[in-house]
Amino acid sequence: MQLLMMGPPGAGKGTQAAKLVKKFNIPQISTGDMFRAAVKEGTELGKQAKACMDAGKLVPDEVTIGIVRERLAKDDCKNGFILDGFPRTVAQAEALTKILDELGKKLTRVLNVHVPAEDLIERAVGRRICKNCGATYHVKFNATKVDGVCDECGGDLYQRADDNVETMTNRLNVYVESTRPLIEYYKAAGVYTEIDGRQPIDKVTEDLINVLTSVQE
Ligand code: AP5
Ligand code: MG
Ligand code: ZN
Repeated sequence: MQLLMMGPPGAGKGTQAAKLVKKFNIPQISTGDMFRAAVKEGTELGKQAKACMDAGKLVPDEVTIGIVRERLAKDDCKNGFILDGFPRTVAQAEALTKILDELGKKLTRVLNVHVPAEDLIERAVGRRICKNCGATYHVKFNATKVDGVCDECGGDLYQRADDNVETMTNRLNVYVESTRPLIEYYKAAGVYTEIDGRQPIDKVTEDLINVLTSVQE
């Protein structure tokens, strides 16, 4: 199953992708996570990505497409994958179609987690992530049992550098301008489904699984 999780910043792509990883046992490929890992390692890619991410802008297409091309060629993608946050431009979408053609694969479904703009800043600003295992929480909507401590592994939580009102405003503008047009691209391809992302996390997961079960039959 080749899945693509779409949606504006803070919609719940990562949260839902993590649930689908457990359910379907296929890897999550988040370009955002890959860039954050490169920033942490201090590589050239990391330096370039950090400047873009801190400004709420996109990392250039050539760079992003290159890392996804390499990642999709890995063995663990043989039985499928969940793309999270890629593609984000029409050029990236066209490149993905070409990469998948070369691999003899097609997207099974594009799942767009729809959340209205007015909810997104609150979701991002309240987000907390485990330093150790990467689990995602929210101070109000998905709080840990003990403040600042991961439920899964006991690790410390941190806040992403781009989860502030100013950067988030830029990210939302970039989404509207560059990424939202992909909805039409994937509608035209006949693989698009929209899910109501305002529901509680588990209900969103349930809706996603229902869509995927009906697609598989
Ligand atoms: P990336 O890391 O992909 O960020 P994003 O798209 O802005 O999306 P987020 O990760 O912020 O949100 P999410 O939808 O995953 O939400 P989450 O599940 O965490 O990209 C970061 C940057 O990297 C970009 O700005 C760009 O610079 C660069 N980049 C990445 N990909 C690129 C590409 N393809 N091309 C170029 N540049 C690229 O949930 C958010 C919060 O809400 C959490 O706290 C969660 O607990 C909570 N929540 C989730 N679901 C619910 C719910 N149903 N109800 C209430 N709260 C919920
Ligand atoms: Mg994410
Ligand atoms: Zn953890």
